[in-house]
Order: sequence, then structure tokens, then C-alpha cells
Amino acid sequence: MNMLEMKHVKKAFGETGVLKDISFSVKEGDVVSIIGPSGSGKSTLLRCATGLETMDEGEIQCEEFGLVFQNFNLFPHFSVLKNIVDAPIRNQKRPKEEVYQEARELLEKMGLSDKETAYPCELSGGQKQRVSIARALAMNPKILFFDEPTSALDPELTLEILKVIRELAEEKMTMVIVTHEMSFARDVSNRIIFMENGYIVEDGTPEEVFTSENARTREFLGKYHHSS
Ligand SMILES: Nc1ncnc2c1ncn2[C@@H]1O[C@H](COP(=O)(O)OP(=O)(O)OP(=O)(O)O)[C@@H](O)[C@H]1O
Ligand SMILES: [Mg+2]
Repeated sequence: MNMLEMKHVKKAFGETGVLKDISFSVKEGDVVSIIGPSGSGKSTLLRCATGLETMDEGEIQCEEFGLVFQNFNLFPHFSVLKNIVDAPIRNQKRPKEEVYQEARELLEKMGLSDKETAYPCELSGGQKQRVSIARALAMNPKILFFDEPTSALDPELTLEILKVIRELAEEKMTMVIVTHEMSFARDVSNRIIFMENGYIVEDGTPEEVFTSENARTREFLGKYHHSS
């Protein structure tokens, strides 16, 4: 079953085409990493998939989703627990008790049981990101989107978040992850999409993409090896 399907999606900002003809689908249990140079359209693709941005042409079908951003986007005036329970109670109209219990289970899973009453400003970046993952999971999404979930974090906190994502992958959570962490993408995903200049250049298993003969793919991944 497809959790996301995009067909011939196009998007331009003014004269500039950003998504030029994007077609792909994500099946239940897939973990898809989207890689590619800055400006290639990765965030725009996620924003179109999740309805934050309108596309110009094409078709998108997406199941209920959760979104985790680079900058956490927590409500600063809500406690950690309130950040997690607010949307399930107010928007999904689910029973309070059930939502609170699930939220506490999620916090435990994220190793944050002692932070229930803390406010976002009292947390480290890695803790904030774990709260935003718990908040996304509290909506019981069918698919989770991450846009550079570790790019605001130092290497140690990055590992913390990558571990959480790896655990979710083991639980067969369907995920689409925009990332510049090549070794993580290779390790955790069953599929990698390489985007450049608004097009999908490669869509395959990590093995296929990392051994691709395509000149651009090789150049991009080569740069990565040298800089890391
Ligand atoms: N709201 C907007 N208005 C105008 N141009 C935009 C807007 N959002 C994105 N763009 C342009 O679209 C192009 C693709 O941007 P996008 O954010 O999707 O790239 P990206 O692949 O996510 O890059 P990065 O790796 O740096 O995050 C860029 O040239 C950007 O300047
Ligand atoms: Mg981006």
C-alpha cells in the first residue's frame, strides 16, 4: 500500500522551476532518504507532499502524516507534555486520558520522562528534537517526514536523533528523511532518492545509488566522501 504517491509534480517560484517533473511513491514500511545539493528542491518536495506549499501541476496522494523540522517548531509557552497532547486532543478530538497516557509512553521511549513539565527553552537541541518527534508520533501518523532533523545539532546530539530514527525504522515506521548525513542515509534507508535541480536523478537501494555510474551522482557522493 502506498503511503505517498506523487505523479508529475511541478512547482515554480516565479520564473524559477523548483520541482520539474517529480514522480515517485512510498510504500508502507519504506524508509526513503532524499539527498542532493542545496537548492535542489528537497524541502519544497516535502512541503508540497504535506500541503504546506501548493503545487502547480501534478497529483499527490498522502496518508495522514507527521512532520519534523530542522528547527523543532515547538510551542515555547507550552510544557513538553502539552506540546505533545495539544493537537491529538484539540484537532483529533481524542480522549484526554488516552492521549496523556500515550504521550507519557512516547516521552519514556524518547528518554525524556523527567522533562514532562519542562518548557522548550529549558531543553537541549537534541531533547527539543526528541520532543518534536514524540509530538509528531502522538498523532499516530501513517508516514513521518523529516527535513534535516539533525542539521541544527552538534555531532553527539546528531547521533542521539539518528538512533531514535533508526529505532523507528526497525519498528517499520514509514519515513521520508531529507538529510545530508550520507552514511546514515545509506545505513537506515531501504531507498535513496538523489535530487538535483528539480529532478530525481536516482531512485534506488542504497547499494544502487552509492555504486551508481551516473556522473552527477558520483560527483555529489564523491564530494561527500572527501569532506567527511
Ligand atoms: N517560498 C519560496 N519563494 C521563492 N523561492 C523559493 C521558496 N522556497 C524555496 N525557494 C527556492 O527554491 C529552490 C529550492 O529550495 P529548497 O528549499 O526546496 O531546496 P533544498 O533542496 O531543500 O535545499 P537545502 O539543502 O539548502 O535545504 C531554491 O532555489 C530556493 O531559493
Ligand atoms: Mg531544505
